[in-house]
Amino acid sequence: MRARQAEPSLVRPGEPDEYGTWTAERLEAWLRASTGREPVIVVSHRAPRRSAQAIDSRTRGPVELESSGIVSAVEPLIRACSGVWVAHGKEEDSTSDDQPYRVRRVSLEDEEQHGFYYGFANEALWPMCHRAHVKPTFRPDDFTTYWNVNARFADVVRQEASSDSPLVFVQDYHFALAPQLVRERLPHSRVITFWHIPFPHWQEFEVCPWGQYLLEGLLGSSIIGFQTPLDCRNFIETVERCLGAHVDRYHDALTYGGRQVLVRAYPTSVRWPGWWASCSPTIEICRESIRRQLCLPVDTQLGVGVDRLDHTKGIEEKFLAIERLLECYPEYRERFVFAQLAAPSRETLPAYRDLRARVLAARDRVNARFGSANYTPIILLEEHHTQAHVNLFLRAADFCYVGSLHEGMNLVAKEFVSARDDERGVLLLSAFAGAARELTDALSINPYDIDDAASVIARALTMNDEEQAERMRRMRSVVSEYSAWRWAAHILSDAARLRRER
Ligand code: G6P
Repeated sequence: MRARQAEPSLVRPGEPDEYGTWTAERLEAWLRASTGREPVIVVSHRAPRRSAQAIDSRTRGPVELESSGIVSAVEPLIRACSGVWVAHGKEEDSTSDDQPYRVRRVSLEDEEQHGFYYGFANEALWPMCHRAHVKPTFRPDDFTTYWNVNARFADVVRQEASSDSPLVFVQDYHFALAPQLVRERLPHSRVITFWHIPFPHWQEFEVCPWGQYLLEGLLGSSIIGFQTPLDCRNFIETVERCLGAHVDRYHDALTYGGRQVLVRAYPTSVRWPGWWASCSPTIEICRESIRRQLCLPVDTQLGVGVDRLDHTKGIEEKFLAIERLLECYPEYRERFVFAQLAAPSRETLPAYRDLRARVLAARDRVNARFGSANYTPIILLEEHHTQAHVNLFLRAADFCYVGSLHEGMNLVAKEFVSARDDERGVLLLSAFAGAARELTDALSINPYDIDDAASVIARALTMNDEEQAERMRRMRSVVSEYSAWRWAAHILSDAARLRRER
């Protein structure tokens, strides 16, 4: 079946930012004029940087941020507000250097990390929330550890709070219980929780033996944000069915235990202009440099994928589509190469080891069938790539291929659009990634439909410059209007409204 058409982009009237491009300066000016610059306490599993690092003197930003969706979206917000970012890591790596915010690390014993992160977060919740056909595993001990770790982070929030009503911003499925645990410790806090991954339909959610605790934990929030309206709908229906909460659909609000919680969609985005906009080499230099690194002739057409090695990303399916392309369109043999950047991820878990074995087998088969002494159709680069290196690949590519089987948003798609100031390059985007809702000028792909995906790749490889430019221009306008700065403004304006109302 052909992938469904993506829906038109989001514009919500009545918000502070219906037009124009949001920048760091505009966000700061707006904060000063409207809400004041209130410090925020961010809670997430990953810290913005792997460890304490030098500060870039030009941007006054960290030299190398962790490349994850959470960091791309949340770092601009805390940068504008100041405050403290509470994350897992070695305590001695906590920083209070030349940044507008501090990083406070919470160290976890191996056993805690095992039950909390690998066990409950990534073997139970992650597969339960994604339609990627990996069965969730629910172990009581993992859930107990998850609860205890959420409580430890809530204790740290209490230590870090400088008033009895702090603004706390909780990130993702690692911390579903934390909102309620923070509220028990700081009853007047305003807790905003953002769920970065898809929220499942209630029938998928009800398999979790401790679902009620998760929902009650989340409902400790003042606002719960999701990537798309569908995620909001799934959450509201789940809470209605499982807890009997009262739903006010007109105001996007739930009432449970005498408290009201707002549920809203805030699609995450990337900085605009991107980190590298002012210092990227020209497109020509990027093209030459990447082709030289990969030992490719200068006229080779290049497709690029950038993912964690995760079963939700559809990497194996991309390789199958490339195999079909080379079968059905022999003219691309020796002339087209696909480079997949794959960051190792959650490698101790069996589902991830199995996936890696399948991905390597698919690559080897395609390369054996169509490769030669001088030609390797699929190049798999398994390592953590710096953002600067990813940027080079995105600028060098003829197309970028996002093939997620299911995903909350996918910020690589938006990074690609942000990287292409030459208005060239084609985005192939899975209809099952949240980004498809906004980037309607991408070529839509159903990653399960291998024949169709192969023909979409062929279409990308033959798209003329005018069509590329038209599509890219429209996508750049969408991303520039809905950047990470505007995402921050939406969330903070809702938080400010709550403060006024109370
Ligand atoms: C997804 C999740 C994030 C997570 C990231 C990387 O984007 O939503 O919360 O940090 O994957 O996964 P990892 O397990 O390496 O933190």
